[in-house]
Amino acid sequence: MDYLEIEGQQKLSGSVEISGAKNAALPLLACTILFKNRVEICNLPEVNDISTLLQLLKNLGASYTFEDDCATIDSSTINNTVAKYDIVRKMRASILTLGPLLTRFGHCEVSLPGGCAIGQRPIDLHLKALEMMGANIEIKQGYVLATAKDGLKGATIIFDKITVTGTENIVMAAALAHGKTHIINAAKEPEVVQLCEVINSSGVTIEGIGTDELIIHGNGGELLESQTITVIPDRIEAATYLCAGAITNSEITLHKVEHSHLLSVILKLQEMGFSFEMNNNSLTIKPTPKVLAFNAITTEYPGFPTDVQAQFMALATQAKGSTIIEERLFENRFMHVSELQRMGTKIRLNQNTATIEGEQSLHGADVMATDLRASSALILAALVAEGTTRVHRIYHLDRGYVALEKKLSKLGAKIKRLKE
Ligand code: EPZ
Repeated sequence: MDYLEIEGQQKLSGSVEISGAKNAALPLLACTILFKNRVEICNLPEVNDISTLLQLLKNLGASYTFEDDCATIDSSTINNTVAKYDIVRKMRASILTLGPLLTRFGHCEVSLPGGCAIGQRPIDLHLKALEMMGANIEIKQGYVLATAKDGLKGATIIFDKITVTGTENIVMAAALAHGKTHIINAAKEPEVVQLCEVINSSGVTIEGIGTDELIIHGNGGELLESQTITVIPDRIEAATYLCAGAITNSEITLHKVEHSHLLSVILKLQEMGFSFEMNNNSLTIKPTPKVLAFNAITTEYPGFPTDVQAQFMALATQAKGSTIIEERLFENRFMHVSELQRMGTKIRLNQNTATIEGEQSLHGADVMATDLRASSALILAALVAEGTTRVHRIYHLDRGYVALEKKLSKLGAKIKRLKE
């Protein structure tokens, strides 16, 4: 297995290019199941989750070619609607094939994704919504057996909790359903918006895109046709690099970002004393004479993202004063705390609230990644720690960050990938 070795206390400088968003690319790949023609998707991030989903589509009978950062997927040859456990367990977002397979073929079997380090990750809201649309859902030997022999029917659906992939699954299911589907309390993350925009420009009208109420005018089973799709920039990757600039108090520039997707992150960093220069699709973070402590509560978009909570916790160890971070979305998203404590941070946990002492001088250590975003938090802490840090189990990182060590090296970090 690979691990990363980082020599701390290096200032950063220069610029880094942000890749396509993993969490936008995944629903777009699943959505190709709804298309009649070959669909080209560009600006795909080269991360393991993307190859896993492409592998799943291939297992279903689709075919694809991959050139540079574009994949061309042909789902017209799909002849199997069983998404097997051995693939789904590697990546819970495989559940995004449930809605498209069911609405197109009237039946499918998709393995339950199971939980992960950050929480139990249920899909009850996905299943309840599909039942509202007329699906018959059975759970058998760890699989969701879904049928809708006369196709799905439009329905009014209210999500008790805002769910990103739940909204995406139902939007895709509703696209080929008979009649109108009204989703209340929909997620409005940029990745949900892009999925809706692609479907809306491919033959199915969607009203309310970008709001928490969506109306999808299902076309009763007519397969869609699309132009080339370009995946939006990864706002979480961008936020992670902003935190790298902030934690080393360096000036760095990010290229190919979408500022409007990063407002809550930029505002939080401004609260901490950092300033920014923005032009076109570049964003420069500038150092501050004093890094200030802050309070944060993770909230659905456009609030402070749960996917940057771990990164900001590492940053908080360098702020002046105590920081309080409350994690509201997941019940177990503090796995990085014990690893950060091994580097000398002083963090107190009380249920889903963490209190982080500021002005900590960290020291290098051997630490273990537990989930995708926790891994990046450990690397951020290593950038300011005294001495050498080795981050193990970085297969978590490879799921969602494109060449993170190469991009950080380009910014001047002393980081290398080694074999255990
Ligand atoms: C998406 O996960 C993202 N993954 C996650 O990013 C992100 O952390 C999360 O949204 C929240 O923003 C992808 O987009 C592939 P949810 P998702 O359904 O859709 C509860 C990363 O690091 N819930 O919005 O699985 C759930 O337990 C990953 O890239 C139910 O109770 O998250 C959680 O408390 C990690 N029942 C809350 O809703 C359901 O049926 C939000 O979960 C579904 C969700």
